[in-house]
Amino acid sequence: MGNYFLPQVLLLVLGLVAQSHVSADKADSEASSANYRTQRKPNIVFILADDLGFHDVGYHGSRIRTPTLDKLSENGVRLENYYVQPICSPTRSQLMTGRYQIHNGIQHSLFWDDQPTGLPTDSPTLADKLREAGYSTHLVGKWHLGFYKQEYMPNNRGFDTSYGFLGGHESHYNHTRAYKSKGSFLDLRCDGEPVLDQNGRHSTYMYTQRAVDVISAHDKSKPLFLYMAYQAPHNPLEVPEAYEAQYQDIKDKNRRKYAGLVTMLDEGVANLTRALKTMNLWNDTILIFSTDNGGQVRYGGNNYPLRGWKFSLWEGGVRGVGFVTGGDNIRLGRGTVNKQLMHVSDWFPTLVGVAGGSLNGTKPLDGYDQWRTLSVAAPTPRKWLLHNIDPLFKKKGKEKQKYAGIFDTRVRAAIRVGEYKLLTGNPGNGTWIPPPESNTLQTEQKTENSKKNTWLFNIKNDPEERNDLSEKKPEVVKSILRILAKINATAVPPFFPKSDPLANPELHGGIWGPWE
Ligand SMILES: *[C@@H]1O[C@H](CO)[C@@H](O)[C@H](O)[C@H]1NC(C)=O
Ligand SMILES: *[C@@H]1O[C@H](CO)[C@@H](O)[C@H](O)[C@H]1NC(C)=O
Ligand SMILES: *[C@@H]1O[C@H](CO)[C@@H](O)[C@H](O)[C@H]1NC(C)=O
Ligand SMILES: *[C@@H]1O[C@H](CO)[C@@H](O)[C@H](O)[C@H]1NC(C)=O
Ligand SMILES: *[C@@H]1O[C@H](CO)[C@@H](O)[C@H](O)[C@H]1NC(C)=O
Ligand SMILES: *[C@@H]1O[C@H](CO)[C@@H](O)[C@H](O)[C@H]1NC(C)=O
Repeated sequence: MGNYFLPQVLLLVLGLVAQSHVSADKADSEASSANYRTQRKPNIVFILADDLGFHDVGYHGSRIRTPTLDKLSENGVRLENYYVQPICSPTRSQLMTGRYQIHNGIQHSLFWDDQPTGLPTDSPTLADKLREAGYSTHLVGKWHLGFYKQEYMPNNRGFDTSYGFLGGHESHYNHTRAYKSKGSFLDLRCDGEPVLDQNGRHSTYMYTQRAVDVISAHDKSKPLFLYMAYQAPHNPLEVPEAYEAQYQDIKDKNRRKYAGLVTMLDEGVANLTRALKTMNLWNDTILIFSTDNGGQVRYGGNNYPLRGWKFSLWEGGVRGVGFVTGGDNIRLGRGTVNKQLMHVSDWFPTLVGVAGGSLNGTKPLDGYDQWRTLSVAAPTPRKWLLHNIDPLFKKKGKEKQKYAGIFDTRVRAAIRVGEYKLLTGNPGNGTWIPPPESNTLQTEQKTENSKKNTWLFNIKNDPEERNDLSEKKPEVVKSILRILAKINATAVPPFFPKSDPLANPELHGGIWGPWE
């Protein structure tokens, strides 16, 4: 794991090899499975919220009420140095493969509905690995990892059952999404077959009910893996009146509806947890909750006091809400706030490890087994983290650069090395936007040289990315750029094909689905 080797000497320069090394080899993963353990393999429930912002859970001081998430996380481990990717497909791809986008060729943008592409099939998914370890595996909700060919469909990527939609977002009520100007088309399937009878039912009710059904029908002779990928609180901002009505004091309409969606999601999580308890599965269940990226401020999300939002490489785009909890038999550092560096790619080896599975047959992983970090507060094996390198993103800055010869800083990239974060190119909009209901706080935009393309922050001291150190610490910038160049040398070329007119749902019975 962490197979892309970084020269020790570079890390030494940054004073990063002092902490005791937790090797993430096979022996360690055996130790970690012994650490959680009951006689049985644990059930694993992974709940992924869509576009949930950093400021949008009660326990981060939000006006939005999330009593279930607050309570579950209070009795588990809150991850407060936890990172995801700035948008949907990239986070989902790393969760499913434990591999960075630069190693899957998907470092640019996301999977658009009419692109003939998908999560590469050359490495197994988390569901494949858990199934191999004896689990029954279920997907509920959003896929967004490609669907143009049958081989990319969830039931061919390790899931015994799947129920949900294939694209990035859709109407919460009629489950359709537009194709160009041709109208809106259904995207809802159960095990690959269109589901035609759910028009008018809100996605959060629908997916929660499906998850409860999966839990109720579960055959206990096997452990359960449930990947519950809600569409909420992603736009469109459609929410039943009863939830919106709880936020009449929020004047901003988007924020009010979004708050309703979050509280509804919280209730869905309560229902799902209750079903696990009713079925006597809870004691042996590990439950993980995570967002897929930062909140989208244009649709009511908020990441204050972090800088930037969804799509950007600023902390507001990538620092995620997340926690781990579980039933009585799961050994966890309960009631703790974990400030060790962790990334969405770490779930793959971590969960395959606790499942007693094997990591054979995967391509080299970028994730680390974090179970000991979560269960016995061992130091994180993760010393650095690549946020991304996107060679197709529009370059920013001058051709002739200060750091030429090391790394082309016009290219959009960001990396975390220890406490430092370096950003290059155009990281996206870096405004600080307070939640609309906090009438006293002002939006702040930094006026910066339009050619500026290199920033260095000490994230531990300056999580809001206010104090750029790049001029003061050019040697640190250079060291990290050298690391970035080494990592870049392991990248595969990005694959971002043109849209294919054959994707048009009109050619396939008026429903989004595989076309090749
Ligand atoms: C589905 O709902 C959306 C609003 O989210 C609307 O724009 C669209 O026209 C509706 N489509 C159908 C087929 O009812
Ligand atoms: C949760 O369960 C209650 C009781 O069955 C139900 O009334 C409510 O609609 C459910 N909420 C969600 C979000 O599924
Ligand atoms: C769950 O664990 C607790 C504490 O060990 C125990 O009291 C309870 O009976 C267990 N529940 C089930 C369903 O096994
Ligand atoms: C990996 O190991 C499992 C048993 O642990 C085995 O069933 C599977 O075939 C192996 N896969 C590969 C690709 O070697
Ligand atoms: C990354 O590596 C590729 C392939 O070796 C190279 O073409 C590109 O210039 C490198 N990018 C940067 C920003 O240095
Ligand atoms: C960044 O976003 C803010 C708020 O939406 C907007 O006012 C500003 O113009 C944006 N800045 C840039 C450079 O796009």
